[in-house]
Amino acid sequence: MASLPTMIGELRSQFMRELNEALTSKDLEALKVKYLGKKGPVQSLMHELRHATSEERPQLGKLINDLKEELLSHCDHSLHRVKLQEQNARLATEWVDVTLPGRKHNLGRAHPIQQMLQRILDILIGMGFSVRYGPDVDTDYYNFGGLNFPEDHPARDMQDTFYLENGLLLRTHTSNVQVHAMEQFEPPLRIVAPGRAFRNEDISARSHIFFHQVEGFYIDKGVTFADLMAVMEEFLSKILGEKVETLFRPSYFPFVEPGMEVDVRCTACKGKGCKLCKHTGWLEILGTGMIHPNVLRNGGIDPEIYSGFAWGMGIERLTILHYDIPDIRYFTENDQRFLEQFP
Ligand code: DAH
Repeated sequence: MASLPTMIGELRSQFMRELNEALTSKDLEALKVKYLGKKGPVQSLMHELRHATSEERPQLGKLINDLKEELLSHCDHSLHRVKLQEQNARLATEWVDVTLPGRKHNLGRAHPIQQMLQRILDILIGMGFSVRYGPDVDTDYYNFGGLNFPEDHPARDMQDTFYLENGLLLRTHTSNVQVHAMEQFEPPLRIVAPGRAFRNEDISARSHIFFHQVEGFYIDKGVTFADLMAVMEEFLSKILGEKVETLFRPSYFPFVEPGMEVDVRCTACKGKGCKLCKHTGWLEILGTGMIHPNVLRNGGIDPEIYSGFAWGMGIERLTILHYDIPDIRYFTENDQRFLEQFP
């Protein structure tokens, strides 16, 4: 058998030949494994050391180790160089067109009802009201009885109200929050309650079974009708613009006495008469009144000591008037062409 130094020399020149033929990083990785791996020739040389005498062994061992280092350094150097070349070649074929237009990200936006609601709440919070959310599903008492609706009031009719199986109902107005709040808090109370209301009606361009309202009420010692008018006028001028003209008309709601409806001068025709105001020159905006003593009593508040006013309005209606929207059903159809018009 050839001597170990000869074997080392032969292995070296064989490696150098193969190194010259290894052109890609893949070839070089394979070469490295082939020569320096556990089952490779360098490792076999280590086994050959068994046959050497103990005097020869350290010297021969060093020769093999030197060979190992040498091959390793050849592999690593070549790998480094070839990898750089490969990367440059790849970059030369790949390129970025910096003149391409960027990808468009469509920003979401609040629904027009939510936008209007937010404007309403911002104004009322600024006027000292705090926000409470009442239950959508409630009892007959909070929606009707506690609000002084007589037993046979037509609003309780099955045709108007969605009754649930367990004696509950879907609230027909946000006024249900009134007695809940009176039970929970001591006056002075300044509360606005936005939310959904439900009525079992035919769906048309003008009415829906599902809509939004904002209820507000103010209860304290000595609250008068003048306070009601001042707050309504301040609020309406902030939401509709400084110069809004209001009209207070007597009206009937069981939970207020006196009850009123508030109209504003038509925003479209300025009072001349048009389709929007049905040629009256006025738009109905909200219902309001001095809270009925029975309602205060139902909420545990003594009407001999306290008084208050309340009002309620439809947010769809305000939004429709504000933007001149022809059909209330647009709000629930989620047609992007509609929603995109409210940035
Ligand atoms: N709840 C009434 C409705 O849905 C609106 C309303 C009228 C609320 C008069 C009030 C009020 O607080 O005082 O039509």
